[in-house]
Amino acid sequence: MTSSPDDRPAISNLAREERRFPPSPEFVAQANVTEEIYGRAEADPVAFWEEQAQRLIWAQPWTEALDWSDAPFARWFVGGTLNVAYNCLDRHVEAGLGDRVAFYFEGEPGDTQVITYRELTEAVCQAANALTEIGVKSGDRVAIYMPVIPETIIAMLACARLGAPHTVVFGGFSSEALRTRIIDCDAHVVITADGGYRKGSASALKPAVDEALTECPEVHTVLVVRRTGQEVEWTEGRDRWWHEIVPAQPTTHTPEAFDSEHPLYVMYTSGTTGKPKGILHTTGGYLTGCAFTQWAVFDLKPETDVYWTAADIGWVTGHSYIVYGPLANATTSVIYEGTPDTPHQGRWWEIVDKYKVSILYCAPTAIRMFMKWGEAIPAKFNLSSLRVLGSVGEPINPEAYIWYRKHIGHDRTPIVDTWWQTETGAHMISLLPGITSGKPGAAMRALPGISVDVVDDLGNSVPNGGGGYLVVTKPWPAMLRTIWGDPERYKETYWSRFPGAYFAGDGAKRDEEGDLWLLGRVDDVMNISGHRLSTTEIESALVSNPKVAEAAVVGASDPLTGQAVVAFVILRSEAGDGGEHCVRELREHVAREIGKIAQPRQIMIVSELPKTRSGKIMRRLLQDVAEHRPTGDVTTLADTSVMETIQAGLAKGMTED
Ligand code: WTA
Repeated sequence: MTSSPDDRPAISNLAREERRFPPSPEFVAQANVTEEIYGRAEADPVAFWEEQAQRLIWAQPWTEALDWSDAPFARWFVGGTLNVAYNCLDRHVEAGLGDRVAFYFEGEPGDTQVITYRELTEAVCQAANALTEIGVKSGDRVAIYMPVIPETIIAMLACARLGAPHTVVFGGFSSEALRTRIIDCDAHVVITADGGYRKGSASALKPAVDEALTECPEVHTVLVVRRTGQEVEWTEGRDRWWHEIVPAQPTTHTPEAFDSEHPLYVMYTSGTTGKPKGILHTTGGYLTGCAFTQWAVFDLKPETDVYWTAADIGWVTGHSYIVYGPLANATTSVIYEGTPDTPHQGRWWEIVDKYKVSILYCAPTAIRMFMKWGEAIPAKFNLSSLRVLGSVGEPINPEAYIWYRKHIGHDRTPIVDTWWQTETGAHMISLLPGITSGKPGAAMRALPGISVDVVDDLGNSVPNGGGGYLVVTKPWPAMLRTIWGDPERYKETYWSRFPGAYFAGDGAKRDEEGDLWLLGRVDDVMNISGHRLSTTEIESALVSNPKVAEAAVVGASDPLTGQAVVAFVILRSEAGDGGEHCVRELREHVAREIGKIAQPRQIMIVSELPKTRSGKIMRRLLQDVAEHRPTGDVTTLADTSVMETIQAGLAKGMTED
């Protein structure tokens, strides 16, 4: 590509690498970090992370920064002790920041709360006292199934304060998904709400908990926040109202210091098999990673910024960048309960305007939705407070990047495209906004202290201009420690493909200048609106329906959600030949088994599936069909006529929803 900036016909025709957005001189002048940080971190990454760990208050200093002798099982800040909740709350109050706002809460119906650090500290102490009364002790797991409301954060921090690892299950997941998570981590206490507000009305949460618990006899207490006031079923002796037990507790609580490697939480995420993996994060390293990255990547100024991660707390983004990172840095944040189009499509921009949000962090799928709604909507609001915009969850396509920068950032704001995973705990690849010029679509380079590489099939580093697999080559403090209850699976999943390196499961390209571009998953994991789902998990859900003999699922590209679920299903002969009602039933079945986000966009009833001689489904070919492309190379198929059969069958009656 040789065109100059002036003769380009349209944004969508731009050569990707050609646009550059350098930070403005004013931004550079006030930026938190300068170029020297990279060299310093590279010279001695462990010493660099030790320096970052000083952002926290340790009850007991560590004696060894990193113990990697039992790799891939890492121990960071060995011998150090600290309390996460103390670091997120009490110490700020002690430092005189008690009156600083921790959260501006905006409920979907328009109700609001302003919560200061002092108030949040007191509320967390009360919740910790209540959990203690219920019998929760250090090491016990607590499941949390909540909307985006302050009590969710209070519950998480209360668990952290007690050293009781929480497992937050996204409120959009079904009772079945909740149940498997409760059982897998053996939680005996569940914290939930009657419901939450979404799309203008109260949606229920408690019935899913009741259903999940029919098969979880170990759960002895369900603590229920009253959010909507809707009717709930009540199990005497098990269910307790939050408002009857928490506010009555003392507002003080002495935090205990826990080992740096004490478990902080388990977050379930989809892998390549049907069973979700419980990703374990621990205390000192995780909090260090969240605190450093939130400060450096967003150029955070805690005294003046108003920060908003527009995500659900039930995902890792919510854990690291709504709760732990921001609070460790004494940030003032916004949280919003509802959907972006309730009661109108300008709701987000109204919130930015109202609270003078200066840093906004969200997913490309949201940006594409706003693009679809049109720039006239954000134009009605004053967005001049914004100074940094962030993106997470999937590669941001250049069109969305440029639109975001122009219509939300008014061409002033740097965009930080942050690549990371549930497993990595914190950002790994991103530009630093006061240093790097952004390239639309590129995540750019590894953060200071993080070492990544792009390797070929054999594990050899590819040269600039080459593509391959993304790996992390050195341990980092916020890394997952294991898969809950399954250390073998941890080793196998992440550390066996390329010995000595962490395999992220993503493809990547390094351009001629050495900058990184993420190319999406190379395994059977899909990315739907920034949410991770495994093809196998949805296939298992489909075949658990008695009508289904076999199922294959692929992620087909989708203009709004990035990828969309497309399922190919072979029915049992008793089920007849399908038809609309059957497709509807199967979609509802998937929603029940996993959650609405996993519902296939499209279910195609077929008579055969393309398989290799060893019986592996060739998803690549199905993806061609789902994306309406001519099918690629079929020579490795056991039966080469099967694709013709599928195409012919589909031509007769394509079942699209
Ligand atoms: C993808 C979300 C490209 C990637 C924090 C990764 C991204 C998976 C980006 C992790 C990005 C996340 N650019 N791809 N900036 N951020 N991904 O665990 O495929 O829900 O492996 O963590 O999302 O998803 P997870």
